Amino acid sequence: MNKVLVSDLLSQRGLDVLIESGDFEVDVILNLTDKELLSRIGDYNALLIRSATRVTAEVINAAKQLKVIGRAGVGVDNIDVQAATRKGILVVNTPTGNTIAAAEHTFAMLLALARNIVPAGISLKNRAWKRNEFIGVELYGKVFGTVGLGRIGQEVARRAQAFKMQVIAYDPYISSSAAEEIGIRLVARETLFQESDYISVHTHLNAETYHSIGEAEFTLMKPTCRLINCARGGIIDENALYYALKKGQLAGAALDVFENEPAIGTPLLGLDNLLAIPHLGASTTEAQEHVAVEVAQQVMNALRGKPVANAVNQPKIDSRMLDILGPYLELAEKIGSFHAQIVEGQFSAIKIHYSGTLFQKEDITPITVALQKGLLTPVLTNVNYVNAPFLIKRRGILVTETKSDSEANFANSIAITVTTDKGNTVIEGTAFGRKDIRIVRINQHHMNAKPTGSILLIYNRDQPGMIGLIGTILGDRGINIADMTVGRSRIGELAVTLINVDSPVPRGVLQAIAAEKKIDFVKQVFLSEHG
Ligand code: NAD
Ligand code: MLT
Repeated sequence: MNKVLVSDLLSQRGLDVLIESGDFEVDVILNLTDKELLSRIGDYNALLIRSATRVTAEVINAAKQLKVIGRAGVGVDNIDVQAATRKGILVVNTPTGNTIAAAEHTFAMLLALARNIVPAGISLKNRAWKRNEFIGVELYGKVFGTVGLGRIGQEVARRAQAFKMQVIAYDPYISSSAAEEIGIRLVARETLFQESDYISVHTHLNAETYHSIGEAEFTLMKPTCRLINCARGGIIDENALYYALKKGQLAGAALDVFENEPAIGTPLLGLDNLLAIPHLGASTTEAQEHVAVEVAQQVMNALRGKPVANAVNQPKIDSRMLDILGPYLELAEKIGSFHAQIVEGQFSAIKIHYSGTLFQKEDITPITVALQKGLLTPVLTNVNYVNAPFLIKRRGILVTETKSDSEANFANSIAITVTTDKGNTVIEGTAFGRKDIRIVRINQHHMNAKPTGSILLIYNRDQPGMIGLIGTILGDRGINIADMTVGRSRIGELAVTLINVDSPVPRGVLQAIAAEKKIDFVKQVFLSEHG
């Protein structure tokens, strides 16, 4: 009999799906410490969690019989998905089961913040009748800005429209036309922070969004602005928020999520203009039943070898195709991911140009799909080879393929151009043999770089001493360079340097590099180390 460990509180309805099937032994053991989870996980075939259990690479390595991890909810930032994929463990989640709950909760937070509902209620319960102290503000006619226009962002936007607010959004991975269809104006990031009366955050937590709302953004906000975060802790820099609220750089904030949960020690709790809620976005009876039943059904299917609806790390395409096109699938996915992490502006089109005889003979569709999956994976969850083209289309991003059999510099190569309102960015790559994939061009700059692990992309003046300068900054901070390639079009002009580093480069070190006069741009890109 398959053994299932449930380590976070799940609705009984979901547990009943497993228990009543008669095929599974279900153990509900809550509040396990990391150590306890490590010592028990070896006995189980499936693990069911919400956001509290941390499934680290260490836990995954100790999970000798684990076949599936089921996340009742959306965010998988508490699971090391790459480690699970490497071990062939399926990760499933329930991306839509709590969308409405989270959207309604966001709106409840917004209204509560605008009308001082929580402090006014507490004051009356303390037997004080203070009508003048709790004057609120209206929503009508105000600008509502959402950072992220995915499932929850769109539902919240609809509710804001019903309150006759003007809705604007910042989301680079959706086209303006797709947003206009639902009556939303896409704006630049700075514009959203400057113009909004209410700002609500609806992105995932990842390297790009971590602390992406901090001191600089608070400086842009109106002093009357109110900020709501029902997405993930860590997107807002809580230390910067504390001082911004104290200084009155914004009028108030409402947080459902915190960088460290349970957030009982944060100094933010001492501020009158902060509304704090203990991560209740998805906590409705309906949503908990939906996500528990959905995740239980998927875990059951996975353990019985049947297809699942929402695999976060779906396996790749068939073995013949993998054999022939394997390196190009990996390359396209990595170039897509690279683009998503470096390109600026509003996405509108992707062009993929295939050169070489290989692509004349073979069906290139899987490569184009891999590219789309790579492009969306850093910004969305649940992107797989099945839904990536559909998600790209729904976002109004146009994909075109062109082919030529000319073998300009390489036997076969793919060049991917991403168009945004800021211009075009081209990344070209090739494969040497079956395993060795390379990035060979970024825009007009030719190079030879391994697309793997942590990579620094630097635009610098092509002058003597630049490599030494960057090497010294990294070396002084104990960061080891694994590989480095410089691409330049003309001596003395702008050059592109790609540096593979053995460990991620902290933000402060990136800032130190960016502060150098002869460096125009620096960005860190993370690519998987495996195909
Ligand atoms: P989604 O994938 O449907 O939408 C995310 C959107 O963010 C996408 O449209 C994407 O293009 C956009 N995006 C990505 N990077 C961006 C960036 N740097 N700037 C602006 N936009 C960016 O996800 P969703 O289902 O709407 O979930 C949104 C968030 O809500 C997630 O963090 C999820 O974990 C969280 N969530 C929280 C609760 C809760 O209990 N508080 C409940 C459910 C979901
Ligand atoms: C989610 O990502 O689904 C939410 O944060 C809710 C939860 O963790 O239960």
